[in-house]
Amino acid sequence: MARDFTSVGVVGLGTMGAGIVEVFARNGVDVVAVEVSEDALERGRAILTGSTDRAVVKGKLAEADRDALLSRVRFAVGLDALHSVDLVIEAVPEHLDLKQRIFAELDRVCKPEAILATNTSSLSVTEISVATSRPHQVIGIHFFNPAPVMKLVEVVRTVVTSADVVADVEALCKRLGKVDVTISDRAGFIANALLFGYLNHAVGMFESHYATREDIDAAMKLGCGLPMGPLALMDLIGLDTAYEILDTMYRRGGRDRRHAPVPLIKQMVTAGLLGRKSGRGFYTYERPGSPVVVPDEQTPVASEAALGGAAAIAKVGVVGSGTMATGIIEVFAKAGYEVVSVTRGAEKSAKVFEAVKTSLNKGVVRGKLGEADRDAALGRINWSATLDHLADVDLVVEAVVEELSVKKALFASLDEICKPGVVLATTTSSLPVIDVAMATQRPADVVGLHFFNPAPVMPLVEVVETIRTSAETTATARAVCAALGKTGVVCGDRSGFIVNALLFPYLNDAVKMLEASYSTADDIDHAMKLGCGYPMGPFELLDVVGLDVSLAIQRELYLELREPGFAPAPLLEHLVTAGYLGRKSGRGFRDHTRR
Ligand SMILES: NC(=O)c1ccc[n+]([C@@H]2O[C@H](COP(=O)([O-])OP(=O)(O)OC[C@H]3O[C@@H](n4cnc5c(N)ncnc54)[C@H](O)[C@@H]3O)[C@@H](O)[C@H]2O)c1
Repeated sequence: MARDFTSVGVVGLGTMGAGIVEVFARNGVDVVAVEVSEDALERGRAILTGSTDRAVVKGKLAEADRDALLSRVRFAVGLDALHSVDLVIEAVPEHLDLKQRIFAELDRVCKPEAILATNTSSLSVTEISVATSRPHQVIGIHFFNPAPVMKLVEVVRTVVTSADVVADVEALCKRLGKVDVTISDRAGFIANALLFGYLNHAVGMFESHYATREDIDAAMKLGCGLPMGPLALMDLIGLDTAYEILDTMYRRGGRDRRHAPVPLIKQMVTAGLLGRKSGRGFYTYERPGSPVVVPDEQTPVASEAALGGAAAIAKVGVVGSGTMATGIIEVFAKAGYEVVSVTRGAEKSAKVFEAVKTSLNKGVVRGKLGEADRDAALGRINWSATLDHLADVDLVVEAVVEELSVKKALFASLDEICKPGVVLATTTSSLPVIDVAMATQRPADVVGLHFFNPAPVMPLVEVVETIRTSAETTATARAVCAALGKTGVVCGDRSGFIVNALLFPYLNDAVKMLEASYSTADDIDHAMKLGCGYPMGPFELLDVVGLDVSLAIQRELYLELREPGFAPAPLLEHLVTAGYLGRKSGRGFRDHTRR
């Protein structure tokens, strides 16, 4: 029989604590909510009432239920109020000495059988537990932000946590409607160990002016389907908390440079820019605690003004006959551009024509496209097997094989054929755009237009500027993306651009975690989906993308950026060598032949 928890204590009512109080009270558990001072208590109470009031307004909570929920919570200053609770969850700031002091005090105050839990994200639960005389009753219960929303709880057992305490806490998580994964005591557990290197990297991109905050966040939301971008997530977590987590992970997790907090984070914390809770972090919010972003001096000026200087584009050449070229032809034709498709022969053109027609037909069947519009789109495409037909286009999009020599030769030819002032774009996902630009006499007119697969569906395009790209060329490229109904994000000419540079090291880290036997592929996938709201877990995504493709991208990143932490996981290399490439070969991290 699992232990029945009728009353719990929560210590610290900040970002996490207030949410944890709500989770328990919503599920019929009495809560003693404790803070360090009357002021802090009032702030905590305001977070709780704010959140439950919003739930009522959204129709997710009945007024009577809200009142019942609030009536289950007793607020108090000081730990003495916790003398008779069955379980305490501590959610004070991420400092080991503070947490140890609180646990020593809890040990003195709480009844002997009470379980003492910490919500720490990165500190050692073991080190916290030894501050008490009952380390076997100390455990990590790591909720995710916002606690009432996110389904995951990481249950962290130390080497001394007793098995029945683990079982009791697992049963409690189920009662709270949460999904738990039970793991051992390692810096960052599953989710944060995979998340924080990525967040820190994104802050580094922003700090180095590689891309704007809006573009970094839009890239990850639209390119990967994440619920929020990394900088908005830093604001939600709180920059002070994020700093402490990174700092601890750096020190505990083998001094991986990727966890050394980017200097900007410390500067922002010192300046009081803590994120949502202080009303300002990477973004500015309506008021402290509000999720509503308001414009500030970094907000991009209205798009029309920003796109000033863009050249008018009417006719577009697309070179290539593969998946990307096919999708891109469809996208331009559907958006009303006249398209010249150039392939290496009539047979290939016929295949591309069929593929575009099939795809457009699907739109008709789904009621998204009228038959007349389909016919008009197809009618706007001219099919050719010779580059000479690109003499009068306004923009060329190259989507041929990912080989630098082939692309360079093509750009050299385009340079001879195309009229002056034409924008020459490459869709390369891994080669330096400057290399193809320098194959022409007009590098200022060359830009990367990195579409995502499938191009007709994915809303993101990375606009890659080289150090020679002119402002007009970038403006034209962005205007074209907007006209296609896509979001164009501008970034520098570095391996992986924004999305792949942030995505693949995280996937690689997940493989390393699996390889180290810290957790299972299922639990890691669960943790990222339920703890961070990712649409797919890392192993699901790796199997879809293809392990060979993933390995190639990770190798490129490693070679260009020379970051030791980017070294491809040996397990990934072995699976590729063994021919386990993911869904396409029937087996990757999972066996797809049996489903
Ligand atoms: N922010 C997140 O996204 C997140 C997610 C999961 C876990 N965590 C972890 O949760 C814990 C709390 O983080 P947070 O972001 O909620 O911090 P926070 O700064 O928002 O809140 C901490 C609260 O603790 C209170 N406090 C400080 N000393 C206290 C004491 N002696 N007694 C009682 N209360 C005290 C503070 O007044 C404050 O209200 C940390 O261990 C953090 O790593 C944070």
